[in-house]
Amino acid sequence: MHTKRIRFPGLEKRLMSAQEAAELFRDGMVVGMSGFTKAGDCKAMPAALAERARRDGLSITLITGASLGNDSDGVMAEAGLLARRMPFQGDATLRRKINAGEVMFIDQHLSETAEQLRAGNLDAIDIAVIEAVAITEDGGIVPSTSVGNSANFAQQARRVIIELNLSMPAALEDLHDIYVPGPRPGRRPIPLTHCGQRIGTRAIEVDPARIAAIVLTDSPDSPSTILPPDAETQSIARHVVGFLQGEVDAGRLEPSLLPLQAGIGTIANAVLHGLVGSPFSGMTMYSEVLQDSAFDLLDSGQLTFASASSITLSERRHQAFLDDVERYRSRLLLRPQEISNHPEILRRLGLIAINTALEFDLYGNVNSTHVGGTHMMNGIGGSGDFARNAHLSIFVSKSVAKGGAVSSVVPMATHVDHTEHDVDVVATEWGLADLRGLAPRERARLIIERCCHPDFRDELRAYFERACAQAGGQTPQLLGEAFAWHLRYRDTGSMRP
Ligand code: COA
Repeated sequence: MHTKRIRFPGLEKRLMSAQEAAELFRDGMVVGMSGFTKAGDCKAMPAALAERARRDGLSITLITGASLGNDSDGVMAEAGLLARRMPFQGDATLRRKINAGEVMFIDQHLSETAEQLRAGNLDAIDIAVIEAVAITEDGGIVPSTSVGNSANFAQQARRVIIELNLSMPAALEDLHDIYVPGPRPGRRPIPLTHCGQRIGTRAIEVDPARIAAIVLTDSPDSPSTILPPDAETQSIARHVVGFLQGEVDAGRLEPSLLPLQAGIGTIANAVLHGLVGSPFSGMTMYSEVLQDSAFDLLDSGQLTFASASSITLSERRHQAFLDDVERYRSRLLLRPQEISNHPEILRRLGLIAINTALEFDLYGNVNSTHVGGTHMMNGIGGSGDFARNAHLSIFVSKSVAKGGAVSSVVPMATHVDHTEHDVDVVATEWGLADLRGLAPRERARLIIERCCHPDFRDELRAYFERACAQAGGQTPQLLGEAFAWHLRYRDTGSMRP
């Protein structure tokens, strides 16, 4: 079966086992691996490299598109393979190692990694490991369910290892649009003016002489573990849909809206799902990840095109998609993450970006990454790329976490990923605050009344009034008190008084 998938003459001679390919790695190497939010990740090499770490003490810098599936990040971290890791992760074991200071994690805007590699700001990739569904007649690598940073890794790496995944349908070929921006100075504008436009090649171009190994695999992507919409996330969705309807009524948006981006996770997926059956039609997406909700909208006919860098679906949806790629072919494109998240393109298209906050403060500063200001959750991902450059930047969150012990609306965010300057709208299940054109003191009043859980509202209101009276300023805060809720949570297990 693999003969149809390896179409460049002679390359089948480089077929080998993952264990043999793992012998090509040396201590201290920089490795670029495919994989983006569990999609299109390498299935065999992570375990083979972990084995080398256990046996030979191998340690590497690992750069990916984003998070990996199959517990790979956990397996590699547990084996001591990962000295440095960037730009995003979502694994509990790796998270523990990062927060223990054992793995150096560089949390990076997802559009920037490729640019930093190209500029030489990061050490060059020694070996790229890329999951593919085929190698073309010219030696081009056809990625699987994500593109991520793979084109940039393949372009830069001295050696390329391909994991040819025979369980991925060959029908995935032609779903990719690979465009790599040129060097600076003198770079030309990226010629993309609408979501469905092709601007690049159908495969990752690489000199076949650099393909050092081909490893056959047949494991599927890990399914996404997002939860179905619940009462709170449905309520958040209703507020966002109502807000967008208001924008259409006011003539600021067309009923087709503007291209949508929705972040990873349960909450953003539920909000996007809330658009199914809404009055909007002819919608498009220009996102980095397509979760189940994007396919719900494609199936409802309301979404006419979806562009992204990866497809991350629940088990049921994943199999249905792979069994019937043809059904979506004319309405889907997968791009490198620096293109799906590129500020130049996002500004041009004018996106509606919907991302999730761990917490946000009175003034609209958003923390997406650091629990309690210190402990990494997943990483900023693409949320910063989209928030800063979108036409409308919306952040959503449940008003409380940890069974109600933690308020997600706080006096001062303990870590800021998205400043007040990048946040247009915030919403919880209680309501939505449109912050556009408001000064910090005006924003605070709206956020307290619309978004804060009623159990915390009086205390937050009282804090704000005292901050205005005692500290004053453009953005009143009582510096001795601003983190009192977080300290209470640390000391008692609850932010509640
Ligand atoms: N304090 C402490 N923990 C909090 C919290 C808070 N204020 N708010 C949420 N959490 C915890 C939840 O309890 C949950 O923990 P658990 O896994 O132990 O149950 C976890 O954060 C995830 O929250 P959940 O409510 O399940 O939401 P989610 O799946 O939608 O994820 C983020 C929310 C913020 C973690 C996730 O969206 C993320 O990593 N965002 C950053 C990257 C990003 O936005 N990328 C977008 C471009 S794709």
